[in-house]
Amino acid sequence: MAKLRIGILISGRGSNMAALIRAAEAAGYPAEIACVVSNMADAPGVAVARDAGIATATISHRGQPDRETFDRLVSAELERHGVELVVLAGFLRIFSPWFPTRWAGKLINIHPSLLPAFKGLHVQQQALDAGVRLSGCTVHFVTPDLDAGPIIAQAAVPVLASDDEDALSARILRQEHRLYPLVVRWFAEGRIVCAGSRVTVTGGTPDAALLFSAEP
Ligand code: GRF
Repeated sequence: MAKLRIGILISGRGSNMAALIRAAEAAGYPAEIACVVSNMADAPGVAVARDAGIATATISHRGQPDRETFDRLVSAELERHGVELVVLAGFLRIFSPWFPTRWAGKLINIHPSLLPAFKGLHVQQQALDAGVRLSGCTVHFVTPDLDAGPIIAQAAVPVLASDDEDALSARILRQEHRLYPLVVRWFAEGRIVCAGSRVTVTGGTPDAALLFSAEP
């Protein structure tokens, strides 16, 4: 069966992108990485993708007359590579409403909190400041509302009394690297069904051990 062609958008180190590259290299994984697009020429993740033999492109948001012009350039690049699912992996740009509308149902993001708690930036510090005992990561469809699209999957981790922002971020990131390739697999297998704001994963409930990690 043909593999699902995904396009990954990054702005920085690209560790989630690297986790997806590793997953896609494994035999039997149902998706392949058609291209990686960055808005930052010096994003470390661009070099990682290039070294893995993946087509990369940098499209700077600077100097564009407005957000939609940038969004349309990114979209054209994705279309040129036959992308069927757009995967945001640390892409630090807010879209115009045009982009999530163009890619509706085919645009996902990973966010390092258990949404709808803690939106925006420095969400691990927000979780520490709020004193929550559990945090984690969320993969969700992207809609024009920031960090508010239908939730596909979450993985939870404990928040420890000794945590600072870096320690909690690292614990969450380890789960991100497990969860994102899993969700892309489900998408490629046609198992993700979205009805309004509710998402169902068909074909068996995900193993709870994958979605909760008690490791410190
Ligand atoms: C991750 O924490 C992700 O949840 C958030 O941005 C960060 C990107 O990290 N959206 P990386 O570039 O994938 O290492």
